[in-house]
Amino acid sequence: MTNSKIIALFLIPLALLGCSSTTEQSLYDEIGGHKTLETVYGVAVTRIYTHPDIGHYFKGVPKRHLRDQLVTQTCELIGGPCEYDGKSMLESHQGLDIKEREFYILVEIVQGAMRDVGLTYQQENRILQKLAPIKYETINL
Ligand code: HEM
Repeated sequence: MTNSKIIALFLIPLALLGCSSTTEQSLYDEIGGHKTLETVYGVAVTRIYTHPDIGHYFKGVPKRHLRDQLVTQTCELIGGPCEYDGKSMLESHQGLDIKEREFYILVEIVQGAMRDVGLTYQQENRILQKLAPIKYETINL
């Protein structure tokens, strides 16, 4: 076997390995990372706090704190480099007696904020899918 054939035998598998190890972009990176999440939840939290039906729940809850916790939690859920270490969902919603209808009002506000910030319909839905299971840790408690 010639030297060039031997080199080719080593290089082809290496090149293929390189192809297969290209990392897929996370949803977090795809939407523009932390900056986008901060804008989305900045907009959403303002609307939540002033909403006639659910605003009252948030009296006395520091706005900035809630925004930052939501950003970190969603960042973690969509593959970002964050670790949510705030209160558990059960712990923070227990005793509030939040109704299912009120849960959907909040989700719609978050969805509207994502749309206004320029996320695609598909990106919106992928994020909402991650938030959906939290429903049962927030309502009727
Ligand atoms: C997908 C839905 C929801 C998510 C992802 C979510 C997430 C969170 C997070 C991350 C916190 C901060 C916990 C901490 O301080 O460490 C929080 C607190 C809170 N949430 Fe939610 N939540 C949801 C639904 C709701 C709904 C529907 C309401 C009321 C209508 C609500 C009312 C509150 C209140 C009042 C607090 C502050 C509790 C406190 O500090 O004592 N949440 N939520």
